[in-house]
Amino acid sequence: MIRGVVVTIDGPAGTGKSSAAAALALRIGFEMLDTGAMYRAVALLAVEHGVDPSDEFGLARIMDRAAIVVDFTSRPPVVRIGDRDVSREVRSAAVTTIVSQIASHHEVRSRLVQAQRMLAETHPRLVTEGRDQGTIVFPDAAVRVWLDARAEVRARRRADELRARGIEANDADVLREILARDDSDRGRSEGPLAQPAGAVVVDTSDMSFDQVVDALVRVVADRTRETGADCHCGGCA
Ligand code: DC
Repeated sequence: MIRGVVVTIDGPAGTGKSSAAAALALRIGFEMLDTGAMYRAVALLAVEHGVDPSDEFGLARIMDRAAIVVDFTSRPPVVRIGDRDVSREVRSAAVTTIVSQIASHHEVRSRLVQAQRMLAETHPRLVTEGRDQGTIVFPDAAVRVWLDARAEVRARRRADELRARGIEANDADVLREILARDDSDRGRSEGPLAQPAGAVVVDTSDMSFDQVVDALVRVVADRTRETGADCHCGGCA
């Protein structure tokens, strides 16, 4: 049972969920949780410890030994392994290539789902984004959003983002990588990527970033008014 107000944002890769969730959280005075970064931290542990991404129990063992921590003192929060800020490393190609396979395992998902629910207990006004937030982790969330965009648009944005960070990228390769990851995320039996029941759909294909954030602020305002959940955000009125 959720005591606070949770806003879930789910959707396929490259829809801009993390940036939109961070901007929404800032506007409405909530905290923000990037659950993809938690799965990426497990993938980074696997790379660093030489654990095969198919080795479910090997992954569980390294998770039980290392503390994956979301540090809410930074804005947006950063993911740490122990004391080490790994927010850059978790975006590496080595991690991106294996993270979907890592995220398919029950032993991995059950640990992170439990961690995410515990975080919502201590951070009760939360915008949380991922693939299963509105379906599995917080099915009772006051506001559930499904963020989508056409695949070509998602690939172009992701490629632009990589180029802006000085990483060579080609739209066609990024499109292939995104489609493969979506297929894998949709097809798994554990916490598959799926539109939550009752979610508000926001298709960002033809929207600017500011328009997306404005739309999300409106969705939160409308939904919390309809359901009687009071977010006390001061930004929804
Ligand atoms: O959003 P992202 O690209 O950082 O997510 C990385 C991977 O983690 C992606 O393949 C899907 C997976 N993921 C997941 O299975 N469940 C979540 N709640 C968040 C991410």
